[in-house]
Amino acid sequence: MATIDYEVIPGGPLQGQVRVPGDKSISHRAVMLSALAQGESRISGLLDGEDVLGTIAAFRALGVVIEGPHEGRVRIEGAGLHGLRAPAGPLDFGNSGTAMRLMTGLLSAQAFSSELIGDASLMSRPMARVAVPLRRMGAVIDTAADGRPPLFIHGGAQLTGIRYEMPVASAQVKSAILLAGLYARGETTVVEPAPSRDHTERMLAGFGYPVERSGQAVTIRGGAGPLKASVLEVPADLSSAAFFLVAGSIIPGSRLELLRVGINPTRTGVVDILRAMGARIDRRHERIVNGEPVADLVVEASALRGITVDSALVPLAIDEFPALFVAAACAQGTTVVRGAKELRVKESDRLAVMARGLAALGVRVEEFEDGLAVTGGSLRGGVVDSQGDHRIAMAFAVAGHRAEGMVRIRDCRNVATSFPNFDGLARAVGMDVRVLPA
Ligand code: S3P
Repeated sequence: MATIDYEVIPGGPLQGQVRVPGDKSISHRAVMLSALAQGESRISGLLDGEDVLGTIAAFRALGVVIEGPHEGRVRIEGAGLHGLRAPAGPLDFGNSGTAMRLMTGLLSAQAFSSELIGDASLMSRPMARVAVPLRRMGAVIDTAADGRPPLFIHGGAQLTGIRYEMPVASAQVKSAILLAGLYARGETTVVEPAPSRDHTERMLAGFGYPVERSGQAVTIRGGAGPLKASVLEVPADLSSAAFFLVAGSIIPGSRLELLRVGINPTRTGVVDILRAMGARIDRRHERIVNGEPVADLVVEASALRGITVDSALVPLAIDEFPALFVAAACAQGTTVVRGAKELRVKESDRLAVMARGLAALGVRVEEFEDGLAVTGGSLRGGVVDSQGDHRIAMAFAVAGHRAEGMVRIRDCRNVATSFPNFDGLARAVGMDVRVLPA
């Protein structure tokens, strides 16, 4: 598909209220659990980005009736845990690692076979991390030689519960195993080395399915009953809000209010890291919506300083590092992030692509195998390549507003996977982001 570039003209203070789109992680899970539930679920605030539309299309291909999304609303007629039907062809998950990995868990337990594919980025991402534990449960999964997609999942396997100690903190791996565990004989336990996002556990409980947590272990028992259809409201995505939290912090004179943002403590590392750098971020109107904490976030500009990021915070801010590296480039002193090797296997190699992009804007960056050291200073105009990574494209759009000259960002079409209309919302608060044919 034809891609686009962004051109960002530097500008002044940002002001206003922003409602960023629905949380991507929660949107995927809401569609999945609704499709498996008994009865009709209604979801509002759903992210209508391409990643979630891909999950909806996959469930339609699996025989589930889904109406919408219309302005973030969908109605899903749950097929029940055993009501999915064999798809007519391969299921294409586009750019979405979350969809492919979670669906691998779910499809491993079905009576029919399926093939999972994606775009060039997804086809190069590691899938052994889900295939290995699922095979231990009895799943029959073929991958390409090096554990990459396409995945071919053979139907008809009877799964058995396992206890799995995850080598890396990954919510996708944990969730894939828990979804398979719904169908497995006996108990399935996943032990996390460090907390990762727990939306699957919270939402299963919301659909009436018992999940037990004890320390770092999560346990589910197969066949413990149906999922009960729900009415769900998806909060705004903190990972999308993060671009505005950084922009509001680094552009002198700015004040932005981000409305109805999910502040699940397994996601708020970005706020903790920015605050440790000196950011002024307040939470207002905290409440719980469908088992998920939500608040309005108010950010006001402040002078940031470089810090050494506590590696315990890395999994809690895993998707926000592109934005955080831009904050670091505008802080006084050096910010060091280590223990973040996972960033090399995201939608792009985020350590390499961010290091190259920041260097192109004149920022001093040192690249390690598992992190970056970014020294703050002035940003000059220039051209950066997002390598088709949505979050890197948006991070550099923020950098462009603060730069000394125009910044052109290449290959931004995948912003539509997680944040349709990013450029429109950015303009609404005072950024001059132009969308150009590539
Ligand atoms: C996600 C988990 C994280 C995150 C991804 C979304 C999820 O991946 O990076 O964007 O929804 O479960 P890992 O589980 O691989 O860390």
